[in-house]
Amino acid sequence: MSIQTPLETIDAVLARNLDNPTRLIQILREIQEALGWLSPEVLAIVARGIRLPLARVKGVAGFYSFFHTQPMGRYRVLWSDNVTDRMLGSTDLMSEMCKKLWLEPGRVSEDGLASVATTSCTGMCDQGPAILVNYRAITRLNSQRVTHIVDLIRSNTPLTDWPTEFFQIDDNIRRRDILLGNSIQRGDALRSATQQSPLAILEEIKRSSLRGRGGAGFSTGLKLEACRNARGSGSNPEHYVICNADEGEPGTFKDRVLLTTQADLVFEGMTVAAYVVGARRGFLYLRGEYRYLLDSLEAVLSRRRADRLLGHNILEKDGFDFDIEIHLGAGAYICGEESALIESLEGKRGIPRIRPPFPVTHGYLNQPTSVNNVETLAAAALISVKGGDWFRTIGTAKSSGTKVLSISGDCDRPGIYEYPFGVTVAEVLADCGAELSKTQAVQISGPSGICISAEEFKRRIGFEDLPTAGAFMVFNTQRDMFEVAHNFSHFFAHESCGFCTPCRVGTTLLKNCMDKIEAGHGSEYDINEIFKINRLLQTASHCGLGHTACNPMFDTLQKFKPAYERRLKSLAFEPAFDLDETLSQARQMTGRDDAAAHLESNAEENS
Ligand SMILES: Cc1cc2nc3c(=O)[nH]c(=O)nc-3n(C[C@H](O)[C@H](O)[C@H](O)COP(=O)(O)O)c2cc1C
Ligand code: SF4
Repeated sequence: MSIQTPLETIDAVLARNLDNPTRLIQILREIQEALGWLSPEVLAIVARGIRLPLARVKGVAGFYSFFHTQPMGRYRVLWSDNVTDRMLGSTDLMSEMCKKLWLEPGRVSEDGLASVATTSCTGMCDQGPAILVNYRAITRLNSQRVTHIVDLIRSNTPLTDWPTEFFQIDDNIRRRDILLGNSIQRGDALRSATQQSPLAILEEIKRSSLRGRGGAGFSTGLKLEACRNARGSGSNPEHYVICNADEGEPGTFKDRVLLTTQADLVFEGMTVAAYVVGARRGFLYLRGEYRYLLDSLEAVLSRRRADRLLGHNILEKDGFDFDIEIHLGAGAYICGEESALIESLEGKRGIPRIRPPFPVTHGYLNQPTSVNNVETLAAAALISVKGGDWFRTIGTAKSSGTKVLSISGDCDRPGIYEYPFGVTVAEVLADCGAELSKTQAVQISGPSGICISAEEFKRRIGFEDLPTAGAFMVFNTQRDMFEVAHNFSHFFAHESCGFCTPCRVGTTLLKNCMDKIEAGHGSEYDINEIFKINRLLQTASHCGLGHTACNPMFDTLQKFKPAYERRLKSLAFEPAFDLDETLSQARQMTGRDDAAAHLESNAEENS
């Protein structure tokens, strides 16, 4: 078998993607997978091939953290940097790996063999610490595994020859309810839908009171109705359905498990949604960290096509045509925001659009588009079989159905738990093996959600009390809640897309304040600064990322203030660093370490 030249590889990728500029992210990913990185020459060839300005292609390559415009080593190791990975020892293990590879974090080894760095949460919090090696996930890192991986890297062993158990990812389903425990057969939801009119199915979904599971909790029935009623524009009007599987919120991994164990149900939900809105094309936007799911999901799609559950005249219904494409993300949390996701699907940088207009009227390619979370679509498929009234009997008055929680942190049994809405935090803690008396806080719905303290454990999961996209991170009384918020401040500063100044600058200022307090140079002044930045972010940011970026600091300052206070140096303003200490090396080099060379003694003399 002859080996392809880089040019032949690029040509093959472009041909496979039909030279289509909307597939730019997929094109760059496939080329990088084959060639290791995206050189200026490669970007120029791609730009010519898909007839886009080179600046646009470079802008896209530079936006996504999983694309490299410089060589990153034959083995690119990324350590998941969520607080739960840290709690399981990721920081020390990463240092151990760097030491063994003679590497500084963030740098490529001189021989071009490897680089080691951190990345935002990889969605493996129930089995951390986790890493990505060339974007393949490896979980349950420990010292032994680190040594083994270093040996494999040093001996240049291809990833395909690494022990298969390294790549085993567990589902850890601990509690099933209507979704995870469903017994409906493949095609049931579609058979039920196609026996009714699209409007009748829409009525069922509206009657179910299903609300979006991706965070905002908007009524799914109303969203589908608005999309259905919107008119497509231009010479080729179309409607689209998008399943949002970006799942970038730290601490959230339930969509990973739904796509592993209920892929048919999710695709069926997408097809039911397409039937309702009149879409012929749909997309699953899968986060890059879940690359390992791609082949199995493609296989499910192929089987569905063979069974006439996708394609032309689905289930013999004349004119019911629908198919699904999978797009992989490339390491950008912001692409979970629906309009940024659509930009990314169009082959652009993931920058949220100005809204209105909303995607339901002007979404993918400016056409009416319904963007729904994985869990929402799975629930829609169930409703198609069992009806809206049945669904509404489960849960609470304002939150019908169940919620799938991703539980991690200080508990004996981390994993996936599905509950009817209305369950209390205390009940969940008891189920997952977190002792109430030893638990000080739970972070609900990830860093952008809410941090609750022990006094609040009677509160209930549901839109009327504690809405959540699914993350449930448990912190015992030994944990330092300042460190938790500190980690989240870095997450937001790293993931801000940089489009609007309040968020670009505000998230960095927040991170700097938290770094300063961490370093022991904080004062009451910095706490006030955090509150000021919070106001700025909430009022002037362009999208939800900015609006929520200060939530972890705000909550922990209200509920765990001693964790901050014991770090504060004084109540007055303190500079971010100790100038006298910083100058100590200079004093030594110049041989002047007498009292007058110290800033403090100078200040005393002058006063
Ligand atoms: C910064 C940011 C990240 C988001 N990430 C996700 C995500 O990973 N998955 C998701 O379903 N929704 C996410 N959302 C919410 C989506 O914008 C959108 O509301 C959701 O996909 C709609 O689906 P639903 O109605 O089923 O909840 C995010 C929103 C913001 C502001
Ligand atoms: S708020 Fe932040 S993430 Fe959202 S558009 Fe502005 S810079 Fe980007």
